[in-house]
Amino acid sequence: MGIQGNWDRRPLNRRAFLGVGGMGAAALLLGSGAAPDVRAAPRPRFSDYPFKLGVASGDPRPESVVLWTRLAPEPLVEDGSGGVPSRRYDVRWEVAADERFRRVVRRGSAEARPGLGHSVHAEVGGLRPGREYFYRFKAGGEVSAVGRTRTAPKFDARPAALAFAFVSCQDWRDGFYAAYGHLAEEDLAFVVHLGDYIYEGGNTDDGVRDHTDGGQEVFTLAQYRNRHALYKTDEDLQAAHAAFPWMVTWDDHEVDNDYADEAQDGGEDPEKFLLRRAAAYRAYYENMPPRRSSLPRGPDMRLYRRLSWGNLVGISLLDTRQYRSDQADCQSDVDGLADRCAAALSESQTMMGPKQERWLKEGLAGSNKRWNATAQQTMLAEYDFSAAPDDGPNGRLFNLDQWDGYVAARRRLLGFLSKAGVRNPITLTGDIHSSWVHDLKTNFDDETSETVGTEFVGTSISSPFETAFAGPVEAARADNPHCKYFDGTYRGYARVDVTPELWLTTFKGVVTAPGNGNVVDPNAPSYTAAAFAVESGTPGAQPA
Ligand SMILES: [Fe+2]
Repeated sequence: MGIQGNWDRRPLNRRAFLGVGGMGAAALLLGSGAAPDVRAAPRPRFSDYPFKLGVASGDPRPESVVLWTRLAPEPLVEDGSGGVPSRRYDVRWEVAADERFRRVVRRGSAEARPGLGHSVHAEVGGLRPGREYFYRFKAGGEVSAVGRTRTAPKFDARPAALAFAFVSCQDWRDGFYAAYGHLAEEDLAFVVHLGDYIYEGGNTDDGVRDHTDGGQEVFTLAQYRNRHALYKTDEDLQAAHAAFPWMVTWDDHEVDNDYADEAQDGGEDPEKFLLRRAAAYRAYYENMPPRRSSLPRGPDMRLYRRLSWGNLVGISLLDTRQYRSDQADCQSDVDGLADRCAAALSESQTMMGPKQERWLKEGLAGSNKRWNATAQQTMLAEYDFSAAPDDGPNGRLFNLDQWDGYVAARRRLLGFLSKAGVRNPITLTGDIHSSWVHDLKTNFDDETSETVGTEFVGTSISSPFETAFAGPVEAARADNPHCKYFDGTYRGYARVDVTPELWLTTFKGVVTAPGNGNVVDPNAPSYTAAAFAVESGTPGAQPA
Protein backbone atom coordinates (compact mmCIF):
# COMPACT_ATOMS: atom_id res chain seq x y z
CA MET A 1 0.00 0.00 0.00
CA GLY A 2 1.90 3.04 -1.20
CA ILE A 3 1.39 6.71 -0.68
CA GLN A 4 -0.30 7.74 -3.90
CA GLY A 5 -0.68 10.84 -6.00
CA ASN A 6 -0.67 14.09 -4.13
CA TRP A 7 -1.16 12.52 -0.74
CA ASP A 8 0.90 14.42 1.77
CA ARG A 9 1.73 13.12 5.19
CA ARG A 10 0.58 16.41 6.66
CA PRO A 11 -3.18 16.79 6.64
CA LEU A 12 -4.07 18.72 3.53
CA ASN A 13 -4.86 22.39 3.84
CA ARG A 14 -8.62 22.59 3.59
CA ARG A 15 -8.73 25.25 0.91
CA ALA A 16 -6.01 23.60 -1.12
CA PHE A 17 -7.96 20.41 -0.80
CA LEU A 18 -11.15 21.91 -2.18
CA GLY A 19 -9.15 23.13 -5.15
CA VAL A 20 -7.58 19.72 -5.70
CA GLY A 21 -10.86 17.88 -5.42
CA GLY A 22 -12.59 20.26 -7.78
CA MET A 23 -15.67 20.06 -5.60
CA GLY A 24 -17.20 23.15 -4.02
CA ALA A 25 -18.43 23.33 -0.46
CA ALA A 26 -22.04 23.48 -1.61
CA ALA A 27 -21.68 20.27 -3.61
CA LEU A 28 -20.30 18.51 -0.55
CA LEU A 29 -23.05 19.83 1.66
CA LEU A 30 -25.86 18.97 -0.71
CA GLY A 31 -24.44 15.76 -2.13
CA SER A 32 -26.84 12.91 -2.74
CA GLY A 33 -27.37 9.99 -0.41
CA ALA A 34 -27.76 12.12 2.70
CA ALA A 35 -29.03 10.32 5.75
CA PRO A 36 -32.78 10.95 6.07
CA ASP A 37 -32.61 12.51 9.52
CA VAL A 38 -30.58 15.61 8.62
CA ARG A 39 -32.48 18.49 10.16
CA ALA A 40 -33.06 21.69 8.24
CA ALA A 41 -31.16 23.63 10.87
CA PRO A 42 -29.61 26.93 9.84
CA ARG A 43 -26.16 26.34 8.43
CA PRO A 44 -23.83 26.36 11.43
CA ARG A 45 -21.02 28.86 11.67
CA PHE A 46 -18.02 28.22 13.87
CA SER A 47 -15.76 30.81 15.41
CA ASP A 48 -12.82 29.27 13.54
CA TYR A 49 -11.89 26.18 11.53
CA PRO A 50 -13.66 23.32 13.38
CA PHE A 51 -11.40 20.41 12.37
CA LYS A 52 -8.21 21.52 14.14
CA LEU A 53 -7.88 18.15 15.91
CA GLY A 54 -7.61 16.28 12.63
CA VAL A 55 -9.31 13.04 11.64
CA ALA A 56 -8.87 9.41 12.59
CA SER A 57 -10.27 5.98 11.87
CA GLY A 58 -10.31 2.83 13.93
CA ASP A 59 -11.42 -0.71 14.69
CA PRO A 60 -11.36 -2.01 11.09
CA ARG A 61 -13.58 -4.99 10.27
CA PRO A 62 -14.09 -6.69 6.91
CA GLU A 63 -17.05 -4.47 6.00
CA SER A 64 -16.79 -1.50 8.30
CA VAL A 65 -14.57 1.01 10.02
CA VAL A 66 -15.09 3.86 12.50
CA LEU A 67 -14.46 7.41 11.29
CA TRP A 68 -13.64 9.96 13.96
CA THR A 69 -13.36 13.68 14.32
CA ARG A 70 -14.19 16.22 16.99
CA LEU A 71 -15.38 19.75 16.39
CA ALA A 72 -13.05 22.17 18.19
CA PRO A 73 -12.52 25.58 16.57
CA GLU A 74 -10.86 26.70 19.85
CA PRO A 75 -9.37 23.43 21.13
CA LEU A 76 -8.04 24.70 24.47
CA VAL A 77 -10.79 27.04 25.63
CA GLU A 78 -10.97 26.62 29.39
CA ASP A 79 -14.50 25.19 29.68
CA GLY A 80 -13.52 22.17 27.57
CA SER A 81 -16.15 22.94 24.94
CA GLY A 82 -13.61 23.33 22.15
CA GLY A 83 -15.26 26.67 21.45
CA VAL A 84 -18.45 25.01 20.16
CA PRO A 85 -21.80 26.29 21.49
CA SER A 86 -23.75 23.75 23.54
CA ARG A 87 -26.05 22.38 20.83
CA ARG A 88 -26.08 19.49 18.39
CA TYR A 89 -24.47 19.66 14.99
CA ASP A 90 -24.75 17.46 11.97
CA VAL A 91 -21.39 16.50 10.56
CA ARG A 92 -21.35 15.05 7.06
CA TRP A 93 -18.88 12.34 6.14
CA GLU A 94 -17.83 10.82 2.85
CA VAL A 95 -15.90 7.66 2.04
CA ALA A 96 -14.29 7.28 -1.37
CA ALA A 97 -12.23 4.69 -3.16
CA ASP A 98 -9.83 7.41 -4.32
CA GLU A 99 -8.26 10.30 -2.51
CA ARG A 100 -9.78 12.88 -4.86
CA PHE A 101 -13.26 11.64 -3.97
CA ARG A 102 -14.26 10.98 -7.58
CA ARG A 103 -15.57 7.56 -6.59
CA VAL A 104 -17.52 8.23 -3.39
CA VAL A 105 -18.86 4.90 -2.14
CA ARG A 106 -20.62 5.97 1.06
CA ARG A 107 -21.80 9.22 2.54
CA GLY A 108 -23.94 10.17 5.47
CA SER A 109 -24.11 12.31 8.53
CA ALA A 110 -23.44 11.88 12.21
CA GLU A 111 -24.49 13.95 15.14
CA ALA A 112 -21.88 15.81 17.21
CA ARG A 113 -23.36 16.29 20.66
CA PRO A 114 -22.10 18.52 23.49
CA GLY A 115 -22.40 15.58 25.93
CA LEU A 116 -19.70 13.80 23.95
CA GLY A 117 -17.47 16.81 23.40
CA HIS A 118 -18.88 17.30 19.88
CA SER A 119 -17.04 14.18 18.79
CA VAL A 120 -18.14 12.07 15.84
CA HIS A 121 -17.89 8.27 15.72
CA ALA A 122 -19.37 7.24 12.39
CA GLU A 123 -19.48 3.47 12.04
CA VAL A 124 -19.51 3.11 8.29
CA GLY A 125 -20.70 -0.25 6.98
CA GLY A 126 -21.22 -1.74 3.56
CA LEU A 127 -17.55 -1.50 2.61
CA ARG A 128 -15.53 -4.15 0.78
CA PRO A 129 -13.08 -6.31 2.74
CA GLY A 130 -9.35 -5.71 2.49
CA ARG A 131 -9.65 -2.35 0.72
CA GLU A 132 -8.09 1.06 1.09
CA TYR A 133 -10.49 3.99 1.45
CA PHE A 134 -10.32 7.75 1.90
CA TYR A 135 -12.64 9.82 4.08
CA ARG A 136 -13.37 13.40 5.11
CA PHE A 137 -15.87 15.40 7.12
CA LYS A 138 -17.82 18.56 6.51
CA ALA A 139 -19.55 20.97 8.89
CA GLY A 140 -20.37 24.67 8.84
CA GLY A 141 -19.11 25.09 5.28
CA GLU A 142 -15.71 23.71 6.27
CA VAL A 143 -14.02 20.51 5.12
CA SER A 144 -11.66 18.38 7.18
CA ALA A 145 -8.32 16.98 6.15
CA VAL A 146 -8.51 13.72 4.22
CA GLY A 147 -7.83 10.48 6.08
CA ARG A 148 -6.89 7.15 4.64
CA THR A 149 -8.15 3.93 6.12
CA ARG A 150 -8.44 0.23 5.35
CA THR A 151 -10.92 -2.55 5.97
CA ALA A 152 -9.79 -5.90 7.34
CA PRO A 153 -9.76 -8.95 5.06
CA LYS A 154 -12.65 -11.43 5.42
CA PHE A 155 -12.44 -13.63 8.50
CA ASP A 156 -11.65 -16.69 6.39
CA ALA A 157 -9.34 -14.90 3.92
CA ARG A 158 -5.74 -16.07 3.73
CA PRO A 159 -3.61 -12.93 3.51
CA ALA A 160 -0.06 -13.62 2.35
CA ALA A 161 1.34 -10.79 4.46
CA LEU A 162 0.49 -8.03 6.93
CA ALA A 163 2.46 -5.00 8.10
CA PHE A 164 1.43 -2.95 11.12
CA ALA A 165 3.05 -0.90 13.90
CA PHE A 166 2.61 -0.76 17.64
CA VAL A 167 3.30 2.30 19.79
CA SER A 168 2.91 3.57 23.34
CA CYS A 169 3.74 6.37 25.78
CA GLN A 170 3.76 9.84 24.26
CA ASP A 171 4.35 12.33 27.05
CA TRP A 172 3.99 15.76 25.44
CA ARG A 173 6.37 17.35 27.96
CA ASP A 174 9.29 15.07 27.23
CA GLY A 175 9.76 15.52 23.51
CA PHE A 176 8.48 15.81 19.98
CA TYR A 177 6.58 13.18 17.99
CA ALA A 178 9.21 12.69 15.28
CA ALA A 179 8.48 8.96 15.56
CA TYR A 180 4.92 9.58 14.31
CA GLY A 181 6.22 11.60 11.37
CA HIS A 182 8.26 8.58 10.28
CA LEU A 183 5.56 6.07 11.11
CA ALA A 184 3.06 7.99 8.93
CA GLU A 185 5.30 7.37 5.90
CA GLU A 186 5.49 3.62 6.44
CA ASP A 187 3.45 1.19 4.44
CA LEU A 188 1.11 -0.21 7.12
CA ALA A 189 -2.36 -1.70 7.42
CA PHE A 190 -3.03 -0.31 10.91
CA VAL A 191 -1.48 1.00 14.13
CA VAL A 192 -1.98 -0.44 17.62
CA HIS A 193 -1.66 1.98 20.54
CA LEU A 194 -0.90 0.28 23.85
CA GLY A 195 -1.60 3.22 26.13
CA ASP A 196 -0.26 6.35 27.81
CA TYR A 197 -1.75 8.33 24.94
CA ILE A 198 -1.90 11.35 27.27
CA TYR A 199 -0.22 12.03 30.60
CA GLU A 200 -2.33 13.52 33.34
CA GLY A 201 0.49 15.33 35.17
CA GLY A 202 1.32 19.03 35.18
CA ASN A 203 4.19 20.95 33.61
CA THR A 204 7.73 20.19 34.77
CA ASP A 205 10.78 22.47 34.97
CA ASP A 206 12.86 20.37 32.59
CA GLY A 207 10.17 19.60 30.00
CA VAL A 208 10.97 19.84 26.28
CA ARG A 209 7.45 21.21 25.64
CA ASP A 210 5.08 22.97 28.03
CA HIS A 211 1.43 22.07 28.19
CA THR A 212 -0.45 25.09 26.92
CA ASP A 213 -3.79 23.80 28.22
CA GLY A 214 -3.23 25.38 31.63
CA GLY A 215 -0.29 23.15 32.49
CA GLN A 216 -1.86 21.64 35.63
CA GLU A 217 -2.50 18.02 36.58
CA VAL A 218 -5.90 17.20 35.12
CA PHE A 219 -8.93 16.01 37.13
CA THR A 220 -12.15 17.24 35.51
CA LEU A 221 -13.84 16.34 32.23
CA ALA A 222 -12.99 19.78 30.81
CA GLN A 223 -9.35 19.32 31.77
CA TYR A 224 -9.07 15.79 30.35
CA ARG A 225 -10.75 16.99 27.14
CA ASN A 226 -8.25 19.79 26.79
CA ARG A 227 -5.28 17.54 27.53
CA HIS A 228 -6.42 15.24 24.70
CA ALA A 229 -7.04 18.27 22.48
CA LEU A 230 -3.56 19.61 23.15
CA TYR A 231 -1.97 16.30 22.12
CA LYS A 232 -4.18 16.12 19.03
CA THR A 233 -2.94 19.51 17.82
CA ASP A 234 0.44 17.88 17.08
CA GLU A 235 0.97 17.65 13.30
CA ASP A 236 2.89 14.39 13.40
CA LEU A 237 0.28 12.68 15.57
CA GLN A 238 -2.46 13.96 13.23
CA ALA A 239 -0.54 12.62 10.25
CA ALA A 240 -0.23 9.16 11.83
CA HIS A 241 -3.98 9.07 12.59
CA ALA A 242 -4.86 10.26 9.09
CA ALA A 243 -2.61 7.65 7.46
CA PHE A 244 -3.95 4.41 9.03
CA PRO A 245 -6.80 3.04 11.12
CA TRP A 246 -5.82 2.63 14.77
CA MET A 247 -6.71 0.05 17.40
CA VAL A 248 -6.36 1.80 20.74
CA THR A 249 -6.21 0.64 24.31
CA TRP A 250 -5.06 2.48 27.40
CA ASP A 251 -2.62 2.24 30.27
CA ASP A 252 -2.61 4.22 33.52
CA HIS A 253 -1.77 7.79 32.51
CA GLU A 254 -5.00 8.27 30.59
CA VAL A 255 -6.40 8.54 34.12
CA ASP A 256 -3.74 8.58 36.84
CA ASN A 257 -0.29 7.05 37.38
CA ASP A 258 -0.39 3.40 38.52
CA TYR A 259 -4.10 3.32 39.28
CA ALA A 260 -5.67 -0.10 39.70
CA ASP A 261 -9.44 -0.36 39.25
CA GLU A 262 -10.84 2.00 41.90
CA ALA A 263 -7.55 2.33 43.79
CA GLN A 264 -5.67 5.54 43.17
CA ASP A 265 -1.93 5.43 43.74
CA GLY A 266 -2.05 8.20 46.35
CA GLY A 267 -4.79 6.44 48.30
CA GLU A 268 -7.58 8.83 47.37
CA ASP A 269 -11.11 7.89 48.48
CA PRO A 270 -12.33 5.32 45.89
CA GLU A 271 -15.69 7.05 45.39
CA LYS A 272 -13.96 10.31 44.60
CA PHE A 273 -11.44 8.57 42.37
CA LEU A 274 -14.21 6.85 40.37
CA LEU A 275 -15.63 10.28 39.51
CA ARG A 276 -12.22 11.22 38.14
CA ARG A 277 -12.00 7.91 36.28
CA ALA A 278 -15.42 8.54 34.72
CA ALA A 279 -14.27 11.94 33.44
CA ALA A 280 -11.04 10.49 32.08
CA TYR A 281 -12.78 7.55 30.35
CA ARG A 282 -15.35 9.86 28.77
CA ALA A 283 -12.70 12.20 27.42
CA TYR A 284 -10.76 9.20 26.13
CA TYR A 285 -13.78 7.87 24.24
CA GLU A 286 -14.54 11.31 22.82
CA ASN A 287 -11.04 11.72 21.47
CA MET A 288 -10.40 8.21 20.11
CA PRO A 289 -11.90 6.11 17.32
CA PRO A 290 -13.25 2.98 19.07
CA ARG A 291 -16.70 1.57 18.28
CA ARG A 292 -19.90 2.65 20.04
CA SER A 293 -19.75 -0.60 21.99
CA SER A 294 -16.97 1.11 23.98
CA LEU A 295 -19.19 4.07 24.95
CA PRO A 296 -18.48 4.64 28.68
CA ARG A 297 -21.16 4.33 31.35
CA GLY A 298 -19.98 6.39 34.31
CA PRO A 299 -16.66 4.95 35.47
CA ASP A 300 -16.97 1.84 33.27
CA MET A 301 -15.84 1.45 29.68
CA ARG A 302 -15.42 -1.80 27.80
CA LEU A 303 -12.22 -1.40 25.80
CA TYR A 304 -10.95 -4.97 25.53
CA ARG A 305 -11.81 -6.37 22.14
CA ARG A 306 -10.34 -8.25 19.21
CA LEU A 307 -8.96 -7.43 15.76
CA SER A 308 -8.95 -10.11 13.11
CA TRP A 309 -6.84 -10.06 9.92
CA GLY A 310 -8.15 -12.99 7.91
CA ASN A 311 -6.74 -16.27 9.16
CA LEU A 312 -3.27 -14.73 9.50
CA VAL A 313 -3.36 -12.69 12.71
CA GLY A 314 -5.72 -12.18 15.62
CA ILE A 315 -4.95 -9.44 18.12
CA SER A 316 -6.68 -9.38 21.50
CA LEU A 317 -6.39 -5.88 22.92
CA LEU A 318 -6.40 -6.02 26.69
CA ASP A 319 -7.29 -3.53 29.41
CA THR A 320 -5.04 -4.29 32.37
CA ARG A 321 -5.98 -1.23 34.46
CA GLN A 322 -9.75 -1.12 34.87
CA TYR A 323 -10.20 -4.53 36.48
CA ARG A 324 -6.84 -5.33 38.10
CA SER A 325 -6.14 -5.99 41.77
CA ASP A 326 -4.23 -3.29 43.58
CA GLN A 327 -0.44 -3.53 43.30
CA ALA A 328 1.14 -5.67 46.02
CA ASP A 329 2.62 -3.43 48.71
CA CYS A 330 5.84 -5.31 49.48
CA GLN A 331 8.43 -3.67 51.73
CA SER A 332 11.56 -2.45 49.99
CA ASP A 333 14.34 0.09 50.41
CA VAL A 334 14.78 0.28 46.63
CA ASP A 335 12.67 2.90 44.90
CA GLY A 336 9.99 1.36 42.69
CA LEU A 337 11.27 -2.23 42.97
CA ALA A 338 10.79 -4.93 45.63
CA ASP A 339 11.09 -8.63 46.20
CA ARG A 340 7.77 -10.38 46.02
CA CYS A 341 5.88 -10.77 49.26
CA ALA A 342 2.79 -12.93 49.82
CA ALA A 343 0.48 -10.30 48.25
CA ALA A 344 2.29 -10.47 44.89
CA LEU A 345 2.08 -14.27 44.92
CA SER A 346 -1.55 -14.47 46.05
CA GLU A 347 -3.86 -16.57 43.87
CA SER A 348 -6.41 -13.76 44.04
CA GLN A 349 -4.17 -11.28 42.18
CA THR A 350 -5.78 -10.51 38.83
CA MET A 351 -4.51 -8.37 35.96
CA MET A 352 -7.56 -8.58 33.68
CA GLY A 353 -10.40 -9.38 36.07
CA PRO A 354 -12.21 -12.74 35.78
CA LYS A 355 -14.56 -11.72 32.96
CA GLN A 356 -11.86 -10.42 30.63
CA GLU A 357 -9.61 -13.36 31.47
CA ARG A 358 -12.38 -15.77 30.45
CA TRP A 359 -13.05 -13.78 27.27
CA LEU A 360 -9.37 -13.92 26.35
CA LYS A 361 -9.06 -17.66 26.93
CA GLU A 362 -12.27 -18.41 25.02
CA GLY A 363 -11.10 -16.32 22.11
CA LEU A 364 -7.69 -17.93 22.00
CA ALA A 365 -9.06 -21.46 22.37
CA GLY A 366 -11.45 -20.96 19.43
CA SER A 367 -9.01 -19.10 17.19
CA ASN A 368 -8.37 -20.10 13.57
CA LYS A 369 -5.43 -17.67 13.33
CA ARG A 370 -1.89 -18.57 12.44
CA TRP A 371 -0.56 -15.94 14.89
CA ASN A 372 -2.39 -15.11 18.12
CA ALA A 373 -1.25 -11.82 19.61
CA THR A 374 -2.29 -10.06 22.79
CA ALA A 375 -1.68 -6.31 22.84
CA GLN A 376 -1.43 -5.07 26.39
CA GLN A 377 0.34 -2.74 28.79
CA THR A 378 2.97 -3.94 31.27
CA MET A 379 5.79 -6.46 30.82
CA LEU A 380 4.51 -10.02 30.96
CA ALA A 381 7.86 -11.79 31.25
CA GLU A 382 9.57 -11.98 34.62
CA TYR A 383 12.51 -9.66 35.07
CA ASP A 384 14.68 -9.74 38.20
CA PHE A 385 16.21 -6.25 38.20
CA SER A 386 18.88 -7.22 40.74
CA ALA A 387 22.33 -8.39 39.69
CA ALA A 388 23.14 -9.35 43.31
CA PRO A 389 23.09 -13.01 44.37
CA ASP A 390 19.46 -14.14 44.73
CA ASP A 391 19.84 -15.15 48.40
CA GLY A 392 21.63 -11.93 49.50
CA PRO A 393 20.18 -8.52 50.43
CA ASN A 394 18.06 -7.10 47.58
CA GLY A 395 18.93 -10.23 45.62
CA ARG A 396 15.61 -10.29 43.82
CA LEU A 397 13.92 -7.07 42.75
CA PHE A 398 10.78 -6.81 40.66
CA ASN A 399 8.51 -4.12 39.27
CA LEU A 400 5.27 -5.03 41.02
CA ASP A 401 3.12 -2.90 38.70
CA GLN A 402 4.07 -5.36 35.95
CA TRP A 403 2.92 -8.98 35.77
CA ASP A 404 5.73 -9.72 38.28
CA GLY A 405 3.32 -8.41 40.92
CA TYR A 406 0.57 -10.67 39.54
CA VAL A 407 2.39 -13.98 39.47
CA ALA A 408 -0.67 -16.23 39.72
CA ALA A 409 -2.43 -14.37 36.90
CA ARG A 410 0.62 -14.83 34.69
CA ARG A 411 0.86 -18.51 35.57
CA ARG A 412 -2.81 -18.96 34.63
CA LEU A 413 -2.28 -17.23 31.27
CA LEU A 414 0.98 -18.91 30.23
CA GLY A 415 -0.24 -22.28 31.53
CA PHE A 416 -3.34 -21.88 29.39
CA LEU A 417 -1.31 -21.02 26.27
CA SER A 418 0.68 -24.22 26.77
CA LYS A 419 -2.22 -26.51 27.72
CA ALA A 420 -4.67 -25.27 25.08
CA GLY A 421 -2.00 -25.44 22.38
CA VAL A 422 -2.69 -21.87 21.24
CA ARG A 423 -0.97 -21.39 17.90
CA ASN A 424 2.00 -19.02 17.86
CA PRO A 425 1.24 -16.79 20.87
CA ILE A 426 2.79 -13.32 20.70
CA THR A 427 2.56 -10.57 23.33
CA LEU A 428 2.92 -6.88 22.46
CA THR A 429 3.72 -4.61 25.39
CA GLY A 430 4.28 -0.91 26.14
CA ASP A 431 4.54 1.01 29.42
CA ILE A 432 8.27 0.79 30.14
CA HIS A 433 9.65 3.30 27.57
CA SER A 434 12.33 0.91 26.31
CA SER A 435 12.67 -2.02 23.90
CA TRP A 436 12.81 -5.66 25.02
CA VAL A 437 12.36 -9.15 23.58
CA HIS A 438 11.53 -12.12 25.80
CA ASP A 439 10.92 -15.80 25.48
CA LEU A 440 7.83 -16.53 27.57
CA LYS A 441 8.54 -19.50 29.84
CA THR A 442 6.23 -21.74 31.83
CA ASN A 443 8.80 -21.31 34.63
CA PHE A 444 11.07 -18.27 34.35
CA ASP A 445 13.37 -19.65 37.07
CA ASP A 446 14.09 -22.75 35.01
CA GLU A 447 15.90 -22.04 31.77
CA THR A 448 15.04 -25.50 30.46
CA SER A 449 11.27 -25.07 30.95
CA GLU A 450 8.96 -24.80 27.96
CA THR A 451 8.94 -21.61 25.88
CA VAL A 452 5.27 -21.00 25.12
CA GLY A 453 5.38 -17.67 23.33
CA THR A 454 7.32 -14.52 22.57
CA GLU A 455 7.02 -11.00 23.97
CA PHE A 456 7.97 -7.80 22.15
CA VAL A 457 8.09 -4.67 24.29
CA GLY A 458 8.14 -1.45 22.27
CA THR A 459 9.81 1.79 23.34
CA SER A 460 7.97 5.07 23.87
CA ILE A 461 7.12 7.65 21.24
CA SER A 462 8.48 10.41 23.54
CA SER A 463 8.27 9.44 27.24
CA PRO A 464 11.68 9.13 28.91
CA PHE A 465 13.48 6.03 30.04
CA GLU A 466 15.58 6.89 33.06
CA THR A 467 19.04 6.54 31.52
CA ALA A 468 20.59 5.79 34.93
CA PHE A 469 18.40 2.68 34.98
CA ALA A 470 20.00 1.11 31.88
CA GLY A 471 23.20 0.04 33.64
CA PRO A 472 21.47 -1.97 36.39
CA VAL A 473 19.14 -3.59 33.82
CA GLU A 474 22.13 -4.65 31.70
CA ALA A 475 23.95 -5.91 34.77
CA ALA A 476 20.97 -8.14 35.61
CA ARG A 477 20.75 -9.69 32.13
CA ALA A 478 22.68 -12.81 33.23
CA ASP A 479 19.95 -13.47 35.84
CA ASN A 480 17.27 -13.30 33.11
CA PRO A 481 18.35 -15.61 30.29
CA HIS A 482 14.87 -15.53 28.71
CA CYS A 483 15.51 -11.85 27.89
CA LYS A 484 16.93 -11.72 24.36
CA TYR A 485 17.18 -7.96 23.92
CA PHE A 486 17.07 -4.75 25.89
CA ASP A 487 17.78 -1.16 24.82
CA GLY A 488 16.56 1.95 26.61
CA THR A 489 18.51 4.54 24.65
CA TYR A 490 16.07 5.39 21.89
CA ARG A 491 12.47 6.47 21.40
CA GLY A 492 10.44 5.29 18.42
CA TYR A 493 7.96 2.60 17.39
CA ALA A 494 7.90 -1.05 16.43
CA ARG A 495 7.03 -2.26 12.95
CA VAL A 496 5.71 -5.81 12.51
CA ASP A 497 5.81 -7.80 9.26
CA VAL A 498 3.89 -11.06 9.33
CA THR A 499 3.57 -13.93 6.88
CA PRO A 500 2.21 -17.42 7.57
CA GLU A 501 5.80 -18.56 8.15
CA LEU A 502 7.42 -15.63 9.98
CA TRP A 503 6.73 -12.88 12.52
CA LEU A 504 9.31 -10.09 12.24
CA THR A 505 9.42 -7.19 14.71
CA THR A 506 11.65 -4.28 13.72
CA PHE A 507 12.47 -1.68 16.37
CA LYS A 508 12.60 1.75 14.74
CA GLY A 509 14.49 4.34 16.76
CA VAL A 510 14.52 8.10 16.50
CA VAL A 511 17.62 10.05 17.42
CA THR A 512 17.45 11.55 20.92
CA ALA A 513 19.45 14.20 22.79
CA PRO A 514 22.62 12.86 24.39
CA GLY A 515 22.24 12.31 28.10
CA ASN A 516 18.49 12.43 28.61
CA GLY A 517 17.11 10.34 25.73
CA ASN A 518 14.52 12.99 24.81
CA VAL A 519 13.43 13.77 21.25
CA VAL A 520 14.34 17.48 21.18
CA ASP A 521 14.23 17.80 17.39
CA PRO A 522 10.75 17.52 15.81
CA ASN A 523 12.45 16.26 12.64
CA ALA A 524 14.85 13.84 14.33
CA PRO A 525 15.88 11.11 11.87
CA SER A 526 14.88 7.49 12.32
CA TYR A 527 16.89 4.30 11.97
CA THR A 528 16.51 0.57 12.44
CA ALA A 529 17.75 -0.27 15.92
CA ALA A 530 17.19 -4.04 15.97
CA ALA A 531 14.99 -6.77 14.48
CA PHE A 532 13.85 -10.11 15.90
CA ALA A 533 11.89 -12.89 14.25
CA VAL A 534 9.74 -15.82 15.33
CA GLU A 535 9.28 -18.80 13.03
CA SER A 536 5.80 -20.28 12.93
CA GLY A 537 5.70 -23.34 15.15
CA THR A 538 8.86 -22.40 17.07
CA PRO A 539 8.11 -20.05 19.99
CA GLY A 540 10.93 -17.73 21.04
CA ALA A 541 12.76 -14.96 19.21
CA GLN A 542 15.88 -15.04 17.05
CA PRO A 543 17.89 -11.97 15.97
CA ALA A 544 16.96 -11.20 12.36
FE1 LIG B 1 4.30 5.58 29.85
